[in-house]
Amino acid sequence: MEEKARFAVGLDIGTSTTRAVMGTIGHDGKISVVGFGEVPSEGLRRGIVKELMSPPRVIDTCLRAVEGMSGLEVNDAAVNINGSHIGSTKVDGMIAVGVADHEITDEDINRIAEAAVAGKIPANREILSLVPYEYVLDGQGGIKEPFGMHGARLELRANVISALSPDCENIHKACEAGNLHVRLLEPSVVAASRVIVTNTQKENGVGLVDMGSATTGVAIFDEGELQFTGVVPIGSNDITNDLATVLKTVPEVAEEIKIRFASAKFGSSDKDIVIKRGREEYRFRREEVDEVVEARLEEIFEGVRKLLKHAGYDKRLPEGLILVGGGSKLRDIEIYARNQVELAVRLGKPEGILGVSEEIMKPEYATAIGLMFADAEYQENNKGSVLDGIMNGKKQKKPKGEGFLSMLLQKFK
Ligand SMILES: Nc1ncnc2c1ncn2[C@@H]1O[C@H](COP(=O)(O)OP(=O)(O)OP(=O)(O)O)[C@@H](O)[C@H]1O
Ligand SMILES: [Mg+2]
Repeated sequence: MEEKARFAVGLDIGTSTTRAVMGTIGHDGKISVVGFGEVPSEGLRRGIVKELMSPPRVIDTCLRAVEGMSGLEVNDAAVNINGSHIGSTKVDGMIAVGVADHEITDEDINRIAEAAVAGKIPANREILSLVPYEYVLDGQGGIKEPFGMHGARLELRANVISALSPDCENIHKACEAGNLHVRLLEPSVVAASRVIVTNTQKENGVGLVDMGSATTGVAIFDEGELQFTGVVPIGSNDITNDLATVLKTVPEVAEEIKIRFASAKFGSSDKDIVIKRGREEYRFRREEVDEVVEARLEEIFEGVRKLLKHAGYDKRLPEGLILVGGGSKLRDIEIYARNQVELAVRLGKPEGILGVSEEIMKPEYATAIGLMFADAEYQENNKGSVLDGIMNGKKQKKPKGEGFLSMLLQKFK
């Protein structure tokens, strides 16, 4: 019997642009992009869905574009969540699993996850994922996969990624109204890391910075795992708006100045910037543009550095920072960022994606492509399990108990 074709969809509802990418999943597990689309967003503020009138329309239009290109119907997707409410909390817990030599089961793993998380995440927050750093069995640490091992006392050290429940709820509502079921929610910058950050970089220590239009997301990896994620509520559109205000021009002209002429290598030219609009000619002083861009960039990277410090990784990432998102296309940004954060900085771009993909090999597509991979991984892990989605891709079977974590997992069904 021929196996049903499987496909995965990533939907990135950005503050300025909503993007979707669809890929078919081959028998070998390889994903080939068969459709994508982008539509200007409406109804978001600083990464957060703020109203439920326009986003569903935008989502629907974007998905119809993907369907038109792929010839396939989209009903489910992995969707981004963004905003400065996204947080990362270190937790640990300990449980007795029975007499000595007890074999660790799915139920034990579910129970330890519940014990580690219990009481540590406020009731108004939703857990997006639980990243296990290590399990400790009878005092022996460094265990990545305790399933099937023997012992009497199980401990877990983990990282909980959570977000404000009403903000999660609004994404679900907007998607449902846009005829889409949300398979899982993942922070924009974490999703982007799936296509940008290599395993070696994650092992050595690296930071990914998603420079969006209204937010700047940060994800820090070390020892192979996501150690921290947070969002600075300032983005590249703030540069545009500042230019418009200071130069007394309209946002469209300010955007053109930023994209065509601005650079983060300040004082490199003293030639006036001239923009033509029909018969009108606008002239701006380079020095003034530099001042505005520099002030905002300084604020953005101060925010990034604050998060690095908070996470304990200030000047302490051997692989440095990788920049993605539309804002990372500002000329010479990596030179400026390097001086600000005192780390190596490089630009990230999705690469090596199969299918009709040339047009999406751009830093602003990293989140949507990453979400497509998240959707594929979710489907693979959840063929017979609900626990996998939250346990960072570890293979386990469906938990039996109706505990805290299994309740939490109901949403992902
Ligand atoms: N060549 C360029 N130079 C500078 N900035 C650019 C360039 N191209 C795009 N941008 C900026 O990138 C931003 C859009 O990036 P992106 O699409 O990643 O944001 P978003 O996902 O919609 O927003 P967010 O992630 O904050 O919700 C805009 O502010 C745009 O002006
Ligand atoms: Mg974005």
